[in-house]
Amino acid sequence: MTSFWSWYITLLTIGSLVALLWLIFATRRGESADGGNKTMGHAFDGIEEYDNPLPKWWFLLFIGTIVFAAGYLLLYPGLGNWKGVLPGYDGWTQTKEWQREVDAAEKAYGPLFARLAATPIEELAQDEQALKIGNRLFATYCSICHGSDAKGAQGFPNLTDANWRWGGEPETIKTSILHGRQGMMPGWGEVVGEAGVKNVAAYVRGTLAGLPLPADHGADLDEGQQVYQTTCVACHGPEGKGMAALGAPDLTQPSGWIYGSSLAQLQQTVRHGRNGQMPAQEQYLGNDKVHVLAAYVYSLSRQVEESPAQ
Ligand code: HEC
Ligand code: HEC
Repeated sequence: MTSFWSWYITLLTIGSLVALLWLIFATRRGESADGGNKTMGHAFDGIEEYDNPLPKWWFLLFIGTIVFAAGYLLLYPGLGNWKGVLPGYDGWTQTKEWQREVDAAEKAYGPLFARLAATPIEELAQDEQALKIGNRLFATYCSICHGSDAKGAQGFPNLTDANWRWGGEPETIKTSILHGRQGMMPGWGEVVGEAGVKNVAAYVRGTLAGLPLPADHGADLDEGQQVYQTTCVACHGPEGKGMAALGAPDLTQPSGWIYGSSLAQLQQTVRHGRNGQMPAQEQYLGNDKVHVLAAYVYSLSRQVEESPAQ
């Protein structure tokens, strides 16, 4: 701001405050001393207006707001180029305020996270304090997609079961969170045709996953197997067990599927493909928090594996 505009704003603001002060005292002077109910001397439809002084509390409140404004303008930047004299800031700004809070949090939690980050994930997955922090981080950053119980939803994987698209080893989980994941299942509708789509979808559901097929499915499972062997093995493997390096899910474990297991949903997947996106967290959360989150996610799947089979 040029010094002309700085002075312009400063004088205008201070001038307004002084004018307001003057106004309130000037109008007070005219009050009747006896406090009687004098009227203004005019009437509208029989309604008259009193000429009473301002109530004292209202008058003091008004003075109070002006005193507050003066104090505020002294401490904070508000008058042109005036930086304010709030102690400890050398000129208060929102950025400095934010930086102060970040620094304070860093000072308070930095050593804690550094200690947690130095502990191996398996060990951390037994540490109650770490899991509590992980739970809170998960609720803030992950539950929007994976659900507050981490059990996933349509299009978002369940992180509490033993089915992994990219792998359930501690370091693999950490990589998934740190760098994100992109599922790349191309669409095959154009390549295998509508009949091919229906046949292979029925083959995946009925044969690979072992789920019941409706009596009138009308698909040719042998043809479906043919399509599978030529088109799908490259990624989902000869037995349909999937391939963690590509994030290609195990087609024999429908409980781990995220796009549904009905014939219509399977056909949709084969026809148009799927592209699940797990956003990378490294930039937002940093290594230490991701480390704690990895331990938390790892502990969730452990609990399920260790509980007795039902
Ligand atoms: C280029 C590798 C590749 C090929 C070839 C491929 N897939 Fe996939 N498939 C994937 C990947 C990766 C995913 C996971 C997509 C995602 O997570 O969004 C996937 C997902 C799926 C799913 C969804 C599972 C779920 O979680 O709901 C089904 C069903 C499926 N594929 C069946 C097939 C069939 C049938 C074929 C052959 C016609 C095939 N795929 C060919 C890579 C492949
Ligand atoms: C915008 C939605 C979204 C958010 C937010 C998100 N995820 Fe994901 N996540 C996904 C999707 C979608 C996939 C599956 C990617 C694929 O298709 O392979 C995934 C996959 C994963 C996987 C790999 C699962 C497997 O089976 O291999 C892990 C682990 C994971 N997420 C953890 C997290 C954690 C921890 C957070 C919080 C920091 C998080 N995610 C936040 C959408 C999200």
